Amino acid sequence: MTTSPVLDVRGLRKTFTLHLREGLQLPVLQGVSLSVGRGECLALVGPSGQGKSTLMKCLYGSYGAQGGQILVRTADGAVLDLVTATPQQVLALRRQALAYVSQFLRVLPRVSALDVVADRAIAAGEADEQRARDRAAELLARLNLPRGLWGLPPATFSGGEQQRVNIARGFIAPAELLLLDEPTASLDALNRRVVVQLIQEAQARGTAIVGIFHDEEVRDAVASCAYTMGPSPANEPVEHQEAA
Ligand SMILES: Nc1ncnc2c1ncn2[C@@H]1O[C@H](COP(=O)(O)OP(=O)(O)O)[C@@H](O)[C@H]1O
Ligand SMILES: [Mg+2]
Repeated sequence: MTTSPVLDVRGLRKTFTLHLREGLQLPVLQGVSLSVGRGECLALVGPSGQGKSTLMKCLYGSYGAQGGQILVRTADGAVLDLVTATPQQVLALRRQALAYVSQFLRVLPRVSALDVVADRAIAAGEADEQRARDRAAELLARLNLPRGLWGLPPATFSGGEQQRVNIARGFIAPAELLLLDEPTASLDALNRRVVVQLIQEAQARGTAIVGIFHDEEVRDAVASCAYTMGPSPANEPVEHQEAA
């Protein structure tokens, strides 16, 4: 049996058009090609503003692209190109196969931290709500989120607390492709180690991972390969904004 990559990106191009600045064109991704197999962890490296987070959002199907392909192969052997997929196909892929830990938690009003995490497992197919909550509790405990916070909506949590809820949500359901955008940026050393363990466990289960890790210690511990994003000559004539 051949082992095809889980993720195969070919010649991906993405340009932002800044309508508020007379349609200024910002060519952020100019022919990105990379692939990631089962159990591999590819680190996106390069200075701030080079399009790492933009690439992540393309890989999650949140951003469209001007050209190229993002091929995701699921366990049943089906291949979906996220560049041309319908929104329904993208949502189905996210439920079954794709997990994303973004830099910032998008909080829903009135939903408790425990449910923010458990809901992801339920959406991914866990029929038993109690089991989903038990798993959410297990992860929040591993990530040392104080129990007093589990029943509260994360809107008022600190950056590091919100990030741990986001991580628990990203890891609760088995995924074939896991996207991590600076998952340890606001964490202390103890919780960084927990995240490294969670990543290693996912790799051992065969999950393919793409990550942005500013912390070199974390990157060295988990990354099996790297893709460097750098300035390209065509970027030079355009003024760059500072990345968010
Ligand atoms: N939604 C957007 N609209 C316009 N420009 C954007 C948008 N998102 C990012 N950019 C610009 O694209 C470039 C790459 O940003 P980003 O992907 O956040 O870089 P990185 O994650 O590598 O720091 C930056 O110049 C940034 O200002
Ligand atoms: Mg970024």
